[in-house]
Amino acid sequence: MNTPTEIKKVVPGRFVTFEGGEGSGKSTQIKMLADRLNGARLPTIVTREPGGSAGAEVIRHLVLSGMGKLLGPETESLLFAAARDDHVNQVIRPALEQGTWVLCDRFTDSTRVYQGKLGKVDPKLLRAMERVTIGGLQPDLTLILDVPVAVGLQRAIKRRGSAVADRFEEEGLAFHEKLREAYRQIAAEDPNRCVLIDANADQQTVGARIWTALRDHLFSTAAVAESSKA
Ligand code: TYD
Repeated sequence: MNTPTEIKKVVPGRFVTFEGGEGSGKSTQIKMLADRLNGARLPTIVTREPGGSAGAEVIRHLVLSGMGKLLGPETESLLFAAARDDHVNQVIRPALEQGTWVLCDRFTDSTRVYQGKLGKVDPKLLRAMERVTIGGLQPDLTLILDVPVAVGLQRAIKRRGSAVADRFEEEGLAFHEKLREAYRQIAAEDPNRCVLIDANADQQTVGARIWTALRDHLFSTAAVAESSKA
């Protein structure tokens, strides 16, 4: 295993996205990972979608308020894309260019799953929007947090307390089952970029699984790339 100093030498800013259904524990795990990377003197920021930049946060409010549903899945996808474009240009790209690690709570896979696989928006349209919004900026690693639907929904209800459910939390059980399946499919189709993390465990255990995935996918490839240059 690399020590923090070795890691710093060989790894520039990396782009890591977190994906998963409701109550999969993304926000807790992102925070834990950011603390660990910053602790290893790898400057790291945490951001989220929809939102993450001033313009995108305005769109977030609109979409999650239920307005997106009224507009239909295609137009809703355009709103997510507009938010992503601002977020990438204002926050993600500048940070990566400075060598800062970016941990993002949801990214393009959310659009592929929620609007594409579940909302039935044409994948060609989604790919065209991806070309405009992210161009070549694919995540270096995508961690897909996987929990049984009943566990995830129970966690989401507990977290929400008395607050009103958002647009996607309101969907039924069948929707969440399909969501889980769609994420598992993405993980299977793109194993170089995606790792499915079994998140049905306590926070520390899940955190350790995430760290192992990061080490295997990023630190080892960076070290190999660096040594092949020598
Ligand atoms: P959020 O409150 O951030 O929930 P979570 O904790 O589940 O991440 O709500 C974001 C919601 O927006 C979430 O239900 C997924 C949905 N979403 C899409 O439908 N498409 C997208 O492209 C993105 C980024 C999010």
